[in-house]
Amino acid sequence: MEKNTKQDKNSMPNSHLHELLVDEMKDMLNAERQLLKGLMKLSKASQNEDLRAAFEKHHEETETHIEKLKEAFEHLQIPARGKKCKAMEGLIKEAEEIESDFEGSEASDAALISAAQKIEHYEIASYGCMATYAELMQHDEVAQILREILDQEKMTDELLTDIAKKSANKGELVM
Ligand SMILES: [Fe+2]
Repeated sequence: MEKNTKQDKNSMPNSHLHELLVDEMKDMLNAERQLLKGLMKLSKASQNEDLRAAFEKHHEETETHIEKLKEAFEHLQIPARGKKCKAMEGLIKEAEEIESDFEGSEASDAALISAAQKIEHYEIASYGCMATYAELMQHDEVAQILREILDQEKMTDELLTDIAKKSANKGELVM
């Protein structure tokens, strides 16, 4: 009897972890869709050519992230439906605010980079967690897809830091 109870307890986290994975995938599917519009605005507001190119590149990557997420849903045989990501909504709102507050100033690109890096860090945390959950549940293809997206988010974050160091932060400030 006690053994059964233990087995039940052991099987619980997996089903809950599965729900958590799916919930976060829905969150990110919506987040990526919101980000498509957000990146267009960031790109338009950029003064620096490298920065504009980085936002445009990440816009293209974001389109592929949406497709990759849909593939991950397919692997789990779950309809690819998003769920409003309030965090991304807030991050984009803040990006718009900081953009208008620093518009025309020498720190305008630095402000855009800061906002974009906050977005990337949210994505890195999300994809990192989701990839780990998928690995723990042996959803290997899903884990692989999520890791691929995670790598691109990390590369974008590093690229933004490089641009900030090279040009956006006048006076050689280090981020
Ligand atoms: Fe993404």
